[in-house]
Amino acid sequence: MESTRKELIELLNKNKGHISGQELSNQLGISRTAVWKHMNELKKDGYEIEAVQRKGYKILSYPDKISENTLRWGLDTKWMGNELYHYDQVESTQEIVHQLAKQGKPHGTVVIADEQVKGKGRMARNWDSPKGKGIWMSILLRPNLPPLQAPQLTLLAATVLAKLIAENSDLNPQIKWPNDLLINHKKVSGILTEMQAEQDTIQYIVLGMGMNVNQGEDEIPEKIRYKASSLKVEGGHDWNIQATIQHILRLFERTYDVFESQGFETIKKEWEHFGYKIGEEITISTMKETWKATLIGIEPDGALRARRRNGREEKLYSAEIHWGEGGYHA
Ligand code: BTN
Repeated sequence: MESTRKELIELLNKNKGHISGQELSNQLGISRTAVWKHMNELKKDGYEIEAVQRKGYKILSYPDKISENTLRWGLDTKWMGNELYHYDQVESTQEIVHQLAKQGKPHGTVVIADEQVKGKGRMARNWDSPKGKGIWMSILLRPNLPPLQAPQLTLLAATVLAKLIAENSDLNPQIKWPNDLLINHKKVSGILTEMQAEQDTIQYIVLGMGMNVNQGEDEIPEKIRYKASSLKVEGGHDWNIQATIQHILRLFERTYDVFESQGFETIKKEWEHFGYKIGEEITISTMKETWKATLIGIEPDGALRARRRNGREEKLYSAEIHWGEGGYHA
């Protein structure tokens, strides 16, 4: 977008009340007539702008289409999304955040796309990211943590998404260890964490979240329909993607601040509250043996804790878990 237009929207955004044409013209270094012309262009683009004599201008509502401006409007966060980039189409938001990280962009930088044509999932899988149907977003984090604690941020992100859904619908989200979000046993969201670290310091983390929001059942690829779903399929109605993104960013910031000040314990409890099959018996097979165990919770290093039938407790990292009826293999 033309930079004066962008600055104009930012000025209107920052200002809670009205801002006069004179003030805008001073700040932008353009004539009052030019301000007025820009206002008319904004109205044509779907912005609803109120002009009150002797008070000035105020944006009442933004166009429906997602953009950097509409996402920033009313976001009201301290650090999350202070740098926010929106694209219509990208290969993968992960790659863009890696580049921004290398350019030195700050903690909380966010990249969102309407569509990804090479969306990345965990374990080198693809992540289907159709246009305008979901939330495809990556966040740059620069935590002051040793690399071993990085999995805590993935667990944190999963609790944020679970809380968001639980607080805004009648749905019952569950987190399948380590970080798949399920509704009615089907995956609606996944998290991909990529870390750049030196021996004992994290340089940065790119935390990618993919959430299937408004796909109808026939828009979920047929071969994964038995195990994947969307909020719309499970809840029966469309969600406002823009408002949901803003909500995630706010909740993420709040949860991250609690994590920074109080440590992992609160996050752990929240994760366990949403944990899939916590308290239930499942089958685990490793290279050596197959055994039954009750899932108890998670560990500070992100491992899963399980209790064998003989009472012995074990930490699981990458054992193969048979999630049982309705579930599917990780
Ligand atoms: C998983 O396999 O469960 C993780 C999926 C992560 C997908 C998100 S969508 C936004 C970000 N960009 C990507 O290419 N992948 C992540």
